[in-house]
Amino acid sequence: MDKIKISPSILSANFSKLGDEVLSLEKAGADYIHIDVMDGHFVPNITIGPEVIKKIRPLTKKIFDVHLMISPVDKYIKDFAKAGADIITFHPEATKDVNNTINLIKNENKKIGISLKPKSKIDLIENYLEKIDLILIMSVEPGFGGQKFMPEVLDKVKKLKKIITEKKLNVDIEIDGGINFDNSKTVKEAGVNILVSGSTIFKENNGDLKKNIELLRTN
Ligand code: DX5
Ligand code: ZN
Repeated sequence: MDKIKISPSILSANFSKLGDEVLSLEKAGADYIHIDVMDGHFVPNITIGPEVIKKIRPLTKKIFDVHLMISPVDKYIKDFAKAGADIITFHPEATKDVNNTINLIKNENKKIGISLKPKSKIDLIENYLEKIDLILIMSVEPGFGGQKFMPEVLDKVKKLKKIITEKKLNVDIEIDGGINFDNSKTVKEAGVNILVSGSTIFKENNGDLKKNIELLRTN
């Protein structure tokens, strides 16, 4: 199995001390920092934008795994790249032309991710697998942390893993939403190699970030 990476979502962090929270995640052994960007239009919630990312960027060298839940997405790609995103992930439904969005991210020399909502089908991204670095499978409806994991998305993970292996592609499979100590093993077995987690990492074991990251990694 590929090396498992943990990408804690700062959506569950205390935003009044966001910088300290990011430093604590780094100290606790996070591989990436997952940053959820929501616009109140593509999803029914609003979070943060490039200015906040810019402010936390100097604090750490950790990979900023930026999950854009905004539509239309194209006109903001440059702003997020300049703010310090390392991976830029978008939803195919948020653009008129997936190839164009891919190229915009590529032109900024950033890693390219595409995300599928629970009901979004593989055919939405199948033609682009050769061009991207990461697939983000949503295991809850995007918009809020703390929701219940939807096991029906595992079929999609398995199918994508099979295609990626057959085509010998170098594409990560990341999962996002409701990940906990009970399902972490199952998602890895299905083919996931990057686990996003907000609530479990920030709230379980009295918020012991190190313990929770380690448990998700090794469980
Ligand atoms: C939901 C976000 C997730 C969320 C994960 O739209 O994309 O990253 O913060 O939070 P938990 O782990 O609490 O489901
Ligand atoms: Zn996310």
